[in-house]
Amino acid sequence: MKKIMILSGAGLSAESGISTFRDSDGLWENHDVMEVCSTQGWIKNRQHVTNFYNERRADIESKEPNYAHEVLAKLEQTYRGRVIHLTQNIDNLMEKAGAKDVIHLHGTLTDLRCEACTKTFHMGYTPQDGNESCPYCANKRVRHNVVMFGEAAPLYSHIQQAVKECSLFIAIGTSGAVIDIIPLAKEFKHSILIDPKRQETKSMYDPHTYIDEYFEHFIEKKAGVAMEDMMAIIKGHMEDKYFPST
Ligand code: APR
Repeated sequence: MKKIMILSGAGLSAESGISTFRDSDGLWENHDVMEVCSTQGWIKNRQHVTNFYNERRADIESKEPNYAHEVLAKLEQTYRGRVIHLTQNIDNLMEKAGAKDVIHLHGTLTDLRCEACTKTFHMGYTPQDGNESCPYCANKRVRHNVVMFGEAAPLYSHIQQAVKECSLFIAIGTSGAVIDIIPLAKEFKHSILIDPKRQETKSMYDPHTYIDEYFEHFIEKKAGVAMEDMMAIIKGHMEDKYFPST
C-alpha cells in the first residue's frame, strides 16, 4: 500500500510568523543556542532556559495555521492511515489546523514534562512560574517538553519506521541541519523537497552541490505557495496514474 512520509521543519510555520532557526533573521541569530537549547545551558541556568520557552509558548497563542498547515491536515484525512507526518516543530499549528496524528520529534511547547516520571501534561500558553507540579507523581521538578541539544530524542525511532513503510518522501521547510534529509531521500525512489531557497550540501566530498539534487522533485517555493504542485504529485503517486506500483 502506498504511504507518504512527511518530514517538516521551521519553514512550514514561517508564513504564520514563527521564526525559523537558521535563516538570516532566524531564532539562533538572536539567541545563543547553547545557552537556551542545550543540556549545558539547562544545567547552568534553568530560569534562563525556562524564560526562553515561556516566551516561545506565549508567542504561539496568537499564531494561526497557514495554508500549508491546512493542506497537510486535510491530507491526513484524505489518506487516513497512509500519511506519517513527522515534524521537528514544537508549535501546535498543525493541531490548530485540525491534524490528529502529527508526531512531534522535538517535543511540544504547550506541554510540560516531569523530570521524575518523564510523563508530559498540558500547559497551554501559560508561562511556567515554578508553582507547577506533575499531575501524575506530584514532583515539583517539571520543565519544558522540548528536546534540547545533548538530549535523547526517543521519537526518532519513527523515522526509520516511516522509511520502511512509505513509498513517497516529502521534506518541507527543513534545512537538514539536525535531521539530515539526504540519506532519507536516498532511501526513496519518489521524493519531493519544498524550500524557497536552494540549500548547499555540507561536505566538500559530496558529489552534489545542492541538497535538492537528491530529490525527485524540487519545489523551490514557500510552503504556502507550493501546495498545489505538491498535491498534484501526491495524487499522481497515490492514484498510480504516473508511477508504476513500487
Ligand atoms: N516555506 C518553506 N520553507 C521555508 C520557508 C517557507 N515559507 N521559509 C524558510 N524556509 C526554509 C529555509 O530555507 C530553511 O531551509 O526552511 C528551512 C528552515 O531551516 P532551519 O531554520 O534550520 O529549521 P529546521 O530545519 O526545522 O531546524 C531543525 O534545529 O534548532 C533545531 O530543534 C530545532 O527543530 C529544529 C531543528
